[in-house]
Amino acid sequence: MKQRVLFVCLGNICRSPSAEAVFNALITKEGLTEEFEVDSAGISDWHQGEPADRRMQQHARKRNYNLTSLSRPVIPKDFENFDYIVAMDRSNLRDLKARAPKPEYLKKIFLMTDFLSDNSFDEVPDPYYGGDAGFELVLDLLEDSSQNFLKFTRQKQNR
Ligand code: 4NP
Repeated sequence: MKQRVLFVCLGNICRSPSAEAVFNALITKEGLTEEFEVDSAGISDWHQGEPADRRMQQHARKRNYNLTSLSRPVIPKDFENFDYIVAMDRSNLRDLKARAPKPEYLKKIFLMTDFLSDNSFDEVPDPYYGGDAGFELVLDLLEDSSQNFLKFTRQKQNR
């Protein structure tokens, strides 16, 4: 059984498409692509159908990540379909919890920074209205937390 992971941010054009790409690169490196299905979505539908933000793409490219996904909003079926729904910030987390169609789905919802190897940040800050440093920080936080998130999923699967 594949483990299904959905990364979620507000617009699905900066943080969550990056999380998807970083996690995909990690499982590719570890030879685990067959064990996962990875997607991303937005709390909002403001950018539906759009590719990732050009600035985010450029920063990701410098680290060899290709952001290919198109923005789509979270839909009720996602709560059923995915095993792990990982929010980028506390507002996303709150919105996801409020939208879960059944209480039993709440346990699928996580905060990405809970997997950081230190307590330096308690969310992945929204880079949209900021400068270059914000996009680099997003990638730094995602690279670190992805490692521990992967370990977490493997432990859950007893692998
Ligand atoms: P994201 O960034 O949630 O990381 O994709 C944002 C993208 C767009 C907006 C806000 C955040 N916006 O206000 O349009």
